[in-house]
Amino acid sequence: MMKILGIETSCDETAAAVVEDGTRLLSNVVFSSMDLHAVYGGVVPEIAARSHIESIIPVIQQSLEQANCNWDDIDGIAVTYGAGLGGSLLIGVMTARTLAIVKNKPLYAVNHVEAHIYANFLTETSLPDYTLLKRAPEFPMLGLIVSGGHSQLVIWRNHFDYTLLGQTHDDAIGEAFDKVARILGLPYPGGPSIGEAAKKGNPLVFNFPKARMSSKYDFSFSGLKTAVLRAAQAEIGKDHTFPSHKLSEQLSEAQKANIAASFQRIAVETVVDKTILAFEEFQPKSVVIGGGVAASAELRHQLESHLPSAIGSNPTAEGLVGYQDPKLCTDNGAMVAVLGCYMAKHKQPLADPYTLEISPNLSM
Ligand code: KG4
Ligand code: ZN
Repeated sequence: MMKILGIETSCDETAAAVVEDGTRLLSNVVFSSMDLHAVYGGVVPEIAARSHIESIIPVIQQSLEQANCNWDDIDGIAVTYGAGLGGSLLIGVMTARTLAIVKNKPLYAVNHVEAHIYANFLTETSLPDYTLLKRAPEFPMLGLIVSGGHSQLVIWRNHFDYTLLGQTHDDAIGEAFDKVARILGLPYPGGPSIGEAAKKGNPLVFNFPKARMSSKYDFSFSGLKTAVLRAAQAEIGKDHTFPSHKLSEQLSEAQKANIAASFQRIAVETVVDKTILAFEEFQPKSVVIGGGVAASAELRHQLESHLPSAIGSNPTAEGLVGYQDPKLCTDNGAMVAVLGCYMAKHKQPLADPYTLEISPNLSM
């Protein structure tokens, strides 16, 4: 039985968790500085980094307590070293390096984007209020990562053997949700607030364009965001020179709801279309989703309605598509600990606690 402590500080969440054997969630503690950023409509890097400094030690302490562990029970430390905000990553990595030296534990350097997918390997917990996947994904596994910083489609043949099929050329899908929310005057983070507004709107009112990419599995969301801005300006009878920050006060609730619903439909269709294409080409045994936007009800709904025709039966009944608990879709330490467990099991190289550096632009 191997227990790994996972530490995650790549953006605005200070998070730590203990995971056993890559499948059992023993604790999961997340402190978000989101409230401090909400007034700015997005994450402010300096504020995030300062908040990590204050909360990292209490968060780690609490994650050990919740797991009923002391340091002797911990077999290794896994930490996100990229991708993410430099100042934020630094706090997690320096803390993990120090603890690895002082407590004499092996250190695993984890890629944040890979970790989002590994949250789907958690199948057991005695913590209250978690609905985990019933069974772990199988290989070949198709992974869709949709977060505030990433939009990627990846095929895994086995652990640590994967190919990046495609990614965004500009904004990440979550970033597009956040920017459109700002245009509509909806609160940050945009994903949930657009989802809520969309419930009252008609998704067919606006036919926003879907980007055509030269590479089959790549995405783009900046054109969609601009199309939303132009549609909002046109709705109130203004041209492209009308300032975006003044739009929300002139749009009616019904107009906002229709724009939100239409935008959400197209943004989600963009990633679902490519997922179906990749599904048909690679015939995976599992399809898993990671990142904050994986919590989107619209994404789950569209996958459920489109995948069956691609496979000729009901995907969810077969356990082919995994929807993990939303608390494990947004940034957390558990996903980092899970990947750390598999790195240990599969004898991946250890990180040197005296030299490990952050890698803000780390790719897959
Ligand atoms: O994975 P995450 O917590 O952080 C990054 O690694 O970026 O993702 C944050 C993103 C934000 O853009 C937020 O608007 C979006 O995930 N998000 C959602 C939902 N919850 C968070 N998007 C759609 N539906 C949700 N329920
Ligand atoms: Zn993330």
